[in-house]
Amino acid sequence: LVASMEDVEETYIMVKPDGVQRGLVGEMISRFEKKGFKLTGLKLFQCPQELAEEHYKDLKSKSFFPKLISYITSGPVVCMAWEGVGVVASARKLIGATNPLQAEPGTIRGDLAVQTGRNVIHGSDSPDNGKREIVIPFLCNKNILSVYDYSRFLI
Ligand code: TYD
Repeated sequence: LVASMEDVEETYIMVKPDGVQRGLVGEMISRFEKKGFKLTGLKLFQCPQELAEEHYKDLKSKSFFPKLISYITSGPVVCMAWEGVGVVASARKLIGATNPLQAEPGTIRGDLAVQTGRNVIHGSDSPDNGKREIVIPFLCNKNILSVYDYSRFLI
């Protein structure tokens, strides 16, 4: 049976600063492309603190929140919108568990990361959060980085 347009969802995927610095952007995009999802938005972005706090607002009371915000704002991130049937839950499966040591081999975090605090990628946990999170970078007109700016973050 062919899926109807009503089944098509959109999710927000963000390659975190360590993923960008380690040169893993293409590897991660490739996994979503090969699965069959459609890239509908892409932006290299230095996330200002207030937008990082907005993005992670549900975690504000957690002890790790300050470290999480300084990590996310520490360098450029690659913000993406991906579209497809069941893309929200499927992207979470492709990404793997929050703690990369518990993420299954074959998942992005399982293959490419070790620490929870450096887990290379974000994916929305619900269609509603997908819609909420996508607008944060794409409606912000500040901080679009050039290739020259990006080179400052290379280690
Ligand atoms: P969370 O939304 O629980 O996980 P996920 O990214 O898998 O949806 O947490 C958001 C991020 O916060 C997570 O990717 C890494 C960071 N984090 C910590 O640094 N320490 C922790 O104990 C947890 C649960 C998350």
